[in-house]
Amino acid sequence: MPTPTLSTAKASAPAKIILFGEHAVVYGEPAIAVPFNTLSAIAEAVPADRGSGLTIHARDLGMRLQLGSGALIEELDHALIYAAKLALDHLNAPVPDLHIEVSATIPLASGFGSGAATAAALIRALSAALGQPLEGDELNALVYEVEKMHHGTPSGIDNTVIVKNSPIYFIRGQEPQPFSVGKPLTFVIANTGIAASTKETVGAVSELIERDPATYKTIVEQIGSLVREAKALIEHGDVQGIGQLMNLNQRYLHSLTVSSSLLDSLVQTAIDAGAIGAKLSGGGRGGNMIALADTANAEQVAVSLQNAGAARTWITTLGS
Ligand code: MEV
Repeated sequence: MPTPTLSTAKASAPAKIILFGEHAVVYGEPAIAVPFNTLSAIAEAVPADRGSGLTIHARDLGMRLQLGSGALIEELDHALIYAAKLALDHLNAPVPDLHIEVSATIPLASGFGSGAATAAALIRALSAALGQPLEGDELNALVYEVEKMHHGTPSGIDNTVIVKNSPIYFIRGQEPQPFSVGKPLTFVIANTGIAASTKETVGAVSELIERDPATYKTIVEQIGSLVREAKALIEHGDVQGIGQLMNLNQRYLHSLTVSSSLLDSLVQTAIDAGAIGAKLSGGGRGGNMIALADTANAEQVAVSLQNAGAARTWITTLGS
């Protein structure tokens, strides 16, 4: 393999929020997700000394990982090293002498897609430094492989919305569909501050379905129906209808055992503070929740959520 000329490269990838359909999407039902650009992962690649191999400094994890010269076997199991290896194999490139700094403002294991965003930013910076930038479907397929390491059986929604950086209506194994937003929607997002494993919550739902398919497969299908309806309401700008479907989606997620007492109480707090609808977002049992609010009331909803125990809140508008 020829040694490529290396250059400095910087890349990023956004966080994501699932508006409707998490968990059911693993079973082939549709889901709706949007990028959340307020939070992002950043990777910066700089050429290093000859023969030094590839070093990845994951600042937030306090870890320095190595591929090539001096690499430890256990480091090869790390998701970031795995992502780099996948990209190099895909490009048929030798291990380059590069140093890559990776950092993120995305809280880990919080339903914001930190794993997919970090892998996407890393592969973007690495491939750009090699002069062979990876984007689109090629990048998405590689990040999906890394997601499997994090989640076991991911639907592919996180990597797809993060790599595309646009709102998507997603069905597993199909080309994601864009959709229009009839009226701007203001969301208050609250992080519970509790890290939760998507692998575990996805596993818990899978066990329920195995144990009692008649009950739980039906819930999954009902979530699918409400997501189809939600897409139409988003396109028509029916804000009240969207809020009601969020509340219904939350009840189904609760039945799938992926809510938690804190998530339930934050959802109720948002509604009591005047939100039009609210639900957990992402894997659940921690992570984050979202509330749909009037623009004039969003700040009040955010303050109420903080007072009720949210670690952090954000306000974002879709379709503005
Ligand atoms: C996680 O962001 C979304 C889940 O539906 C898992 C997946 O789709 O792979 C819970």
